[in-house]
Amino acid sequence: MKAILFDHYGAPTVLACREVAEPVCGSAQFLVRVHAAGVNPKDCLVRKGKFRWFTGRRFPLGVGHDFAGTIEAVGPQVHDFQAGDAVYGMTNGWHGRTYAEFLVAQPSETALKPASLGFAEAAAVPLAAMTALQALRDIGGVAPGQRVCINGSSGGVGTFAVQIAVILGAHVTAVCSGRNADLVRRLGAHQIIDYTRDDIRSLPEPVDVFFDVFGNGVFPEIRSRLKPCGRFISTVPGLPILKWGLLSRLSPGPRAHLVIVKSRAADLQTLSGWIAGGRLHPVVDREYPLAEAAQAHAYIETKRARGKVVLTVG
Ligand SMILES: NC(=O)c1ccc[n+]([C@@H]2O[C@H](COP(=O)([O-])OP(=O)(O)OC[C@H]3O[C@@H](n4cnc5c(N)ncnc54)[C@H](OP(=O)(O)O)[C@@H]3O)[C@@H](O)[C@H]2O)c1
Repeated sequence: MKAILFDHYGAPTVLACREVAEPVCGSAQFLVRVHAAGVNPKDCLVRKGKFRWFTGRRFPLGVGHDFAGTIEAVGPQVHDFQAGDAVYGMTNGWHGRTYAEFLVAQPSETALKPASLGFAEAAAVPLAAMTALQALRDIGGVAPGQRVCINGSSGGVGTFAVQIAVILGAHVTAVCSGRNADLVRRLGAHQIIDYTRDDIRSLPEPVDVFFDVFGNGVFPEIRSRLKPCGRFISTVPGLPILKWGLLSRLSPGPRAHLVIVKSRAADLQTLSGWIAGGRLHPVVDREYPLAEAAQAHAYIETKRARGKVVLTVG
């Protein structure tokens, strides 16, 4: 089968399309023929070696966590899925493998693909939408009537975060550049802050949750724009958010958190329900064929994607 691999950490050009053996599924797994793979900034960070503590130095390494495809074969201990099912999901862990014609997946990371979505749209959903769901619902505890601000609202995670905050009943202020204001308004945002003209600290009213999707927010600066029990949630791991998280627990008032997305079948099913009900839609900016994974990474690294980037396979 064809798969994207790399032999050393580096620029997008390290990605190469190779012929490799098909993976073999274990008894509690299934083999998926991949039709599309979502591209995420995490894939670029892994390729650059930013997580080499976890990904190590045993090359070649594979890439990608999001997938949508058709089940080819199931292990004897798999009862909830069968060959022929159209599925989508996200693989957990640091080692990617979805930029390939086949992959082995687990039931705990997979759900049936929403019938209303094509494979490319479905592959755009898992990692980004679960990040938004887990940040807003599980960490933020967003409830009807609350005010939520989403910084970086026009990218992969942000386009889902705006819609999910609206579904959870929040009043949504979205931060994006002016060129994306109409897109984000169409997704349901009630108010827009154009960060190229206005300061994100100029939020007119304090918010319950400030979801810093883009990751350039500074908690000590945003703190005064949060309600007393407010939550600042960042997607970007690093010393600042860890320090803010710790310090914010030592005194009353708003708290800072880091979201680390985990793939869960139950969360995929929640998203599928909203998609089936017409309440949640993936925004796909660009599709590239598998062999152009390097170009897809280069585009993601411009930090200008509007919604998601997807690789189509086969
Ligand atoms: N911790 C986790 O589990 C987790 C999970 C998923 C993602 N992440 C991280 O979350 C971040 C966002 O991911 P993503 O998939 O949404 O990325 P993305 O799709 O590449 O984000 C692109 C968007 O960023 C916006 N942007 C660029 N500069 C900005 C700025 N100064 N202020 C606000 N928005 C700006 C752009 O909008 P404009 O063109 O309008 O500027 C563009 O729409 C990445 O760092 C990623 O690694 C972490």
